[in-house]
Amino acid sequence: MLLSMIAAYGKNRELGLDNKLLWHLPADMKNFVRLTKGKAIVVGRKTFESFKGPLPKRINIILTTNKSYHYEHENVRIVHSVEECLKLIEELKLEETVICGGAEIYKIFLPLIKRFYLSIVDWEGKADTFFPEFDMSDFKILEEVNHAKDEENLAWRFLDLEKV
Ligand SMILES: NC(=O)c1ccc[n+]([C@@H]2O[C@H](COP(=O)([O-])OP(=O)(O)OC[C@H]3O[C@@H](n4cnc5c(N)ncnc54)[C@H](OP(=O)(O)O)[C@@H]3O)[C@@H](O)[C@H]2O)c1
Repeated sequence: MLLSMIAAYGKNRELGLDNKLLWHLPADMKNFVRLTKGKAIVVGRKTFESFKGPLPKRINIILTTNKSYHYEHENVRIVHSVEECLKLIEELKLEETVICGGAEIYKIFLPLIKRFYLSIVDWEGKADTFFPEFDMSDFKILEEVNHAKDEENLAWRFLDLEKV
């Protein structure tokens, strides 16, 4: 069972502002769907609340310390600690579980993941949430694709990384 992570950050590791994403990048969104569909995703309560609802065709695992947090939906599971989260992931027996942020959740799980799907967006500006600092040499590049700017998308670089 694979534990992986997916993130898109800007030139200075910017992730979000006011609990929203920073750019409209449909090509990266498509990539996100491709890499998470049919799998379980793990999100912090704040990121989950930034969605319109649970992401379809995925088990949405939400981390919160709030024991009275409820969300009635067949694809939603709520956990209250990293231990509980890892136990649930094991019980679900899915091929892959993808850590989807935000910053607090990335920081906790970065040491535990094996694979990292990273988009680096050609954007810089105001943000209040940043991806944690990490050592790129902890990973080897399995795939690297540079996407040029087009009418709909900023330029972005996709890296498929594996922990060494
Ligand atoms: N660019 C990207 O790829 C990307 C991806 C995801 C998110 N984002 C952005 O990131 C921002 C949100 O990130 P964030 O760091 O503020 O929040 P977050 O990581 O989404 O959620 C933080 C919350 O998770 C819960 N939590 C954290 N550690 C926990 C633990 N050990 N046990 C139980 N619960 C725990 C807490 O919820 P309670 O307060 O309920 O206890 C905490 O307030 C937004 O702007 C979002 O748009 C960007």
